[in-house]
Amino acid sequence: MNKPKLQLALDNQNLIQALAVAQKTQSQIDVIEVGTILAIENGMQSVRLMKSLFPSHIILADIRIIKAGGKLSSLAFDAGADWVTVVSDASKETVKAVAEEANKRKNKDVQIEINESITNEQADYWKSLGITQLIYHRSNEVVDKEEKWNPQVLEKISSLAKKGFNLSVTGGLSVEEIKLFKDIPVYCFIAGRKISNSDIPFQIAKEYKEEIIHIFN
Ligand code: 5RP
Repeated sequence: MNKPKLQLALDNQNLIQALAVAQKTQSQIDVIEVGTILAIENGMQSVRLMKSLFPSHIILADIRIIKAGGKLSSLAFDAGADWVTVVSDASKETVKAVAEEANKRKNKDVQIEINESITNEQADYWKSLGITQLIYHRSNEVVDKEEKWNPQVLEKISSLAKKGFNLSVTGGLSVEEIKLFKDIPVYCFIAGRKISNSDIPFQIAKEYKEEIIHIFN
């Protein structure tokens, strides 16, 4: 099993604060996510700056595309994003347009953000487009309601990983919860506020990284 990556989700509104967290934690993280909130507040300038300051990190523009897939993904890729996100509710045509935009460039990729309602037909269609990455995202509302990742969700994630997708997980994810995924080949653990809202972001990011290494050794 490959070692899962650690993705830092930056959902700050303030770009300077987001850059400071990325700067402090860069040695511990593999992927820097320009979160939806950061991207909406600061536009593609936030992606451009992240890529120019952290050229060796994977930069994800979490712009949650649902329509205008070709145009929006092209704006993000042109600004330096390596990966972009599309939501699973986007139409087949929109997902296809994003996949085509990624495939015509070098080293670009797409993450589809899914929920528990995705169907086998959708998963098969995404595969046929060459899409390999899915993110299971527990929304803030679910995190507030359910303290723990429930076994049905873990089973769903595991079955999609068995279909050959690279599965990432996120949504209020704590260091303690990483061990719940020990039998699942998680691609990226995505952590946001627990790192960026901390006074000691480097130490917290290091705890995530060390736990990933410990569990997936
Ligand atoms: C990932 C996201 C969020 O930025 C991510 O889920 C971070 O969440 P949290 O702050 O709960 O760790 O949209 O796609």
